Amino acid sequence: MTLIPELLPPLPGEVLHARVARTLRDAVQRGVLVQGARLPGHRTLAAQLGVSRNTLVDALAQLQAEGYVSAGERSGTRVAVPPASAFAPAAQSPLPLSAWATRALAGRITDAGGVYAVDFRVGQPVPDLYPAGAWALALARRAGQASSGQLGLLSSTEPGLNESGPNELGPLETRRALAAYLNAERGARVTPDMLMLTGGTQWALDALARVFLEEGRVAATEDPTYPGARAALAATGATLLPVPVDDQGIDPAALPPHATLLYVTPGCQYPTTAALPAARSQAVIAWARACGALILEDDYAADLHHTARPPAVMQGLAPDRVLLLGSFSKSLAPVTRSGYLVAPPEVVRVLAGTRPLTDRAPGVMDALALADILSSGAYARHLRRARQNIRHRHDTLLEALATHLPGWQPTPARAGLHVHVMLPPHLTETDAVTLARRADVALTPAAPLAVLPRPPAVLLGYAHLSPEAIRDGIRRIGESEL
Ligand SMILES: Cc1ncc(COP(=O)(O)O)c(C=O)c1O
Repeated sequence: MTLIPELLPPLPGEVLHARVARTLRDAVQRGVLVQGARLPGHRTLAAQLGVSRNTLVDALAQLQAEGYVSAGERSGTRVAVPPASAFAPAAQSPLPLSAWATRALAGRITDAGGVYAVDFRVGQPVPDLYPAGAWALALARRAGQASSGQLGLLSSTEPGLNESGPNELGPLETRRALAAYLNAERGARVTPDMLMLTGGTQWALDALARVFLEEGRVAATEDPTYPGARAALAATGATLLPVPVDDQGIDPAALPPHATLLYVTPGCQYPTTAALPAARSQAVIAWARACGALILEDDYAADLHHTARPPAVMQGLAPDRVLLLGSFSKSLAPVTRSGYLVAPPEVVRVLAGTRPLTDRAPGVMDALALADILSSGAYARHLRRARQNIRHRHDTLLEALATHLPGWQPTPARAGLHVHVMLPPHLTETDAVTLARRADVALTPAAPLAVLPRPPAVLLGYAHLSPEAIRDGIRRIGESEL
């Protein structure tokens, strides 16, 4: 006799016939109802399950459509498939990860987490840097006006040169607005065909790494450097060579004889915040020309220079060699996942060719909203306010350090959202983190960002904190030290 299972407990939102189907399917998969077994007649089976005949008929129709049961005039309803175990592997085998995935997972830096009274860790969202009103208005306006062309699927003809709809580079309108902005504000040399909108800098780093790197090739990075860049480059299997950074940024004399890519942050070295002098920029470009390397210039602090007019980007000096990576993660909000890549047109064409494999094209609504806030002046107004705020917080942090932790040596930062602080000789980074934690304060140790040995230092992210919280946090660490 065929054993009929009890109805499984209901799932949220599940209707009764779906629950009956799930119960019978589960019984087939577990081998309780074996292949070839004949189910009782509808009336009997419905009674055994405690449901109406109509409900049972609906459930059996579903199972028949899925191929779990077959029904014939004479043969009745029979189980049509073997139990799931018949298809299961003999033993639980590990996932067949690629070498890329294995390296990518190994390269991750995970944060220890935790909630603190004052949290100076870098990478925190800065609510004041999100122009909610202007962004919402621009998005609503664009969403309301979107034409069918803009909403259409990717057009894969000549990518993105004369269309405003989705294409691999992003709407022309946005690239025009962005090119004008970068030429005027960052000293870049950009035309719209050199611009691709990205899902943030990390997207661009990954795309470029996969296009230019592989095992056997060499990529050079500043040391210390941004872990997101190191991870994306290393995941390709290329050899990574660290180039030391001093208080003026990367040392051109220490560049390797050859590399395919060099990752740099000349405007505001991450994490030391040093600005690269022009002579060094020229030397780095000369090196790249001599050995055929491409330079990836991460201009992450582009719009967050808060003391003086920002230095012009390196890309403006050598648009044929330097690829400029920019992001609105810091100047709008990381959730916008919005950034750009400036590259020689031949590089852009390659990326336009590979992009359809990843995400086809950047999101059009966000891109058009970006065009609006750039060309209406809303972005510039927002930045003026944000820079004033950040500068005030930066100066508050330096004053608080001088008062409460005079042995700690901050490098005044001209840009960005954190300050790099050298520790006094008697303190290790672990000591400093422990000391702070005892005072319910969190900070970021600098050592994990470097491969080469460096004097102990910590990073204090301050832009997301009020001046009161900044003073309080530093005072707490100072008292904890006593
Ligand atoms: C050095 C550096 N580059 C780039 C980014 C921005 O990355 P994304 O645009 O992927 O958010 C950050 C943000 O933390 C950064 O610190």
